[in-house]
Amino acid sequence: MSITDSQNVFANLNAPSLPSVLEGLNELLQDPQVSIADIGRAVSADASIAARTIRIANSSYYALTEPAQDIERAAIVLGIRALRSIVTRASILQHYDYLARIEGFDVTALWKHSILTAQMAELVAQRLGATGAGVTPEDLYTCGLLHDIGKIVLLDNFGDEYVGLVRTASSSGRELHECEQARFGFDHARVGRAFAVKWSLPEVIQHMISDHHDRGCDLRNDPPLAVIMLADTMTNHVERGAVPTGGAIAAHRAARALGVSRGTAAELLELTLELHQTVEI
Ligand SMILES: [Fe+2]
Ligand SMILES: [Fe+2]
Repeated sequence: MSITDSQNVFANLNAPSLPSVLEGLNELLQDPQVSIADIGRAVSADASIAARTIRIANSSYYALTEPAQDIERAAIVLGIRALRSIVTRASILQHYDYLARIEGFDVTALWKHSILTAQMAELVAQRLGATGAGVTPEDLYTCGLLHDIGKIVLLDNFGDEYVGLVRTASSSGRELHECEQARFGFDHARVGRAFAVKWSLPEVIQHMISDHHDRGCDLRNDPPLAVIMLADTMTNHVERGAVPTGGAIAAHRAARALGVSRGTAAELLELTLELHQTVEI
């Protein structure tokens, strides 16, 4: 594909706009006087997103002592930023529900990978305090959730052609993002960045999505990106059923940048394995 063709294809990719529930929530979060009742009304404006949000808030990951019956209660016990990351998850999954019908591509597995990466990124950030630059653990959750959203956008736009590309990449042992680059002139990380721009996500989240396939970034000066790469790596290992040792994970570039010891890496892997058993979309 020529560079011009590639640019045209990229510019014409179809991706959803920011859902109105999230738009409303973002506006409310700018207001220091916002009340829990306002938040509840904004999310409940879309009944199915609200129902999905409550179901996620009551999942084992959040370990609530009593189930939240409504959005207000979920906002109180989890905090407004965590609620926003849950609403983001509910909205994006709802929007792309129809992709489950595409044959030859396990969309559920991709969502589970995204959710597990989100959970591990949030937990690693909390555990190591590896945030900084105004990045919260909830931002890392959102970023983990959306790091591979470009694959979903490509699947949605190219259907069977993308399914074939994924199959070829896996049978040849080549990295998918390299096959995407060869076929389209761009990869899912770049598509994901365009998605994040369209949703007006913070620049730091755009950057983490764009660079999650290690483009030689200076990870020692970029802890949030290192967290995403570490979470993605551990999730990939666990999903393949080939769990490495703590030492192997601690030797990864992202783990070294974060100063993760063998012992901590082993504990994080254990946590990834545990969450992998319970993650659901
Ligand atoms: Fe990726
Ligand atoms: Fe990934």
